[in-house]
Amino acid sequence: MSDSDVQLVILAAGIGKRMKSSTIKILHRASGRALIDYVLELAGAVSERKPIMIVGHQRETVEQHCGQRADYAVQAEQLGTGHAVLQAESLVRRSGATRVVILSGDVPLTRPDTLRRLVDEHVAALNEVTLLSMQLDDPDMYGRIVRGATGEVVKIVEANDANDAQKTIREVNAGIYVFEMESLFQNLRNLSAGNAQGEFYLTDIIGKIRQDGKRVGAILADPVEALGVNSRADLAMVERELNRRTLEQLMEQGVTFRNPDTVSIDTTVWIGPDTVVYPSVCLEGSTRIGRDCVIDPGAHLLDVTVGDRVHIKTGVVAENAIIEDEAQVGPYAHLRPGTKLGRSSKVGNFVETKKAVFGPGAKASHLSYIGDAEVGADVNIGAGTITCNYDGVNKHKTVVEDGVFIGSDSQLVAPIRIGRGAYVGAGTTVTKDVPPDSLALSRVPQRNVEGWAEKRRAKLKKK
Ligand code: UD1
Ligand code: CA
Repeated sequence: MSDSDVQLVILAAGIGKRMKSSTIKILHRASGRALIDYVLELAGAVSERKPIMIVGHQRETVEQHCGQRADYAVQAEQLGTGHAVLQAESLVRRSGATRVVILSGDVPLTRPDTLRRLVDEHVAALNEVTLLSMQLDDPDMYGRIVRGATGEVVKIVEANDANDAQKTIREVNAGIYVFEMESLFQNLRNLSAGNAQGEFYLTDIIGKIRQDGKRVGAILADPVEALGVNSRADLAMVERELNRRTLEQLMEQGVTFRNPDTVSIDTTVWIGPDTVVYPSVCLEGSTRIGRDCVIDPGAHLLDVTVGDRVHIKTGVVAENAIIEDEAQVGPYAHLRPGTKLGRSSKVGNFVETKKAVFGPGAKASHLSYIGDAEVGADVNIGAGTITCNYDGVNKHKTVVEDGVFIGSDSQLVAPIRIGRGAYVGAGTTVTKDVPPDSLALSRVPQRNVEGWAEKRRAKLKKK
């Protein structure tokens, strides 16, 4: 297919009433990206020309989202798919293309090869229009493809306008077409809206072209590829399919999934070979996981970068964090944005971190809050240690230099610096900087009162 011949037009002006949403349908997300992102990617895979997008509802938001990836034509009032395409006429003519490929913004699963096959067939068969169709057990609200005695496509009838016999037709219109440019716009200008919905249907010009004795072609697509999103149920189906495709690809690259049906992974996520992913794991956004890692059940990572040979244990929640090679996290740790765990470091049970950088080999194994902190190499943070980073108005920084040992149940009142190699005794409230290699201790000295307990019990018995 020659790029210079084809201009893509994407229909994206309708709100999508059946979604029952205040957000326009094409900006609903599936597997980490908006529906329209998948369509733009498809457009980019088949043509180097910028696609033209027809926008209307929530136009500013849509244009902001899609940015430079498309040129825009405005359909001020949503008078139907035919009327929508007509709004692109001047931009299409300016492009110099002789053919127009029309995509629907709400049909996100079509593969580039299928679209190329459609264009190749159109060119080879000298068609005036070639459309993508599919066979469905339940044709539901899709437009029906009416074929003639010799199997030729005669017209498309929309579900709302179909008679009982036509309603039983199982071959339906996917909403993806290749048109010869001149004939497309000529026919669009002559459309009328005399149908059940009072709209200018793009699909009506198929019958018109056929009546004029021109060639109308159709090729069959896998129903999954032509699935249109009109409802939340359709959206869930799209997400399931995208997830299936992502896992299939990751397995091909050498990732093991213990129970793939329970795992949810965005199309934007990458995982290295020999990593094992346990059930009920959710990986989102720009998350990247290295090789030879183990991701235990119930981990939820969003925009997290994970090195090699890392063990993410059960119930870890992490967002916008970096975890370097051989680190161990969890079970039940919460890494909040700005966390960076160095090589072979360890953040254990019920530890929460935020804007915390751990040097190589540093450990906080149990029940801690470490926020706004710089933790040096090989530091050991005892169970229950808390950085007191917030004074009610401002956040302050804690610096723990290399090789420091912090005893259990300590509080580090920021801003504070604990010098290299220092010790903090268990139960200490550190309020002053600690010089390197010294011991900080703020406990009241212990006093044992011998025989005290025995006397007390005797006293209680007498009463
Ligand atoms: C359309 C087709 C139907 C096909 C189905 C496949 C028509 C008349 N019907 O029906 O044959 O089986 O797609 O998914 O074309 N849009 C605009 N402006 C408008 C109306 C719609 O830009 O005035 C956009 C929508 O935002 C959407 C696309 O066109 O992205 C399709 O519109 P939609 O209302 O979903 O059409 P369907 O009823 O699904
Ligand atoms: Ca639709």
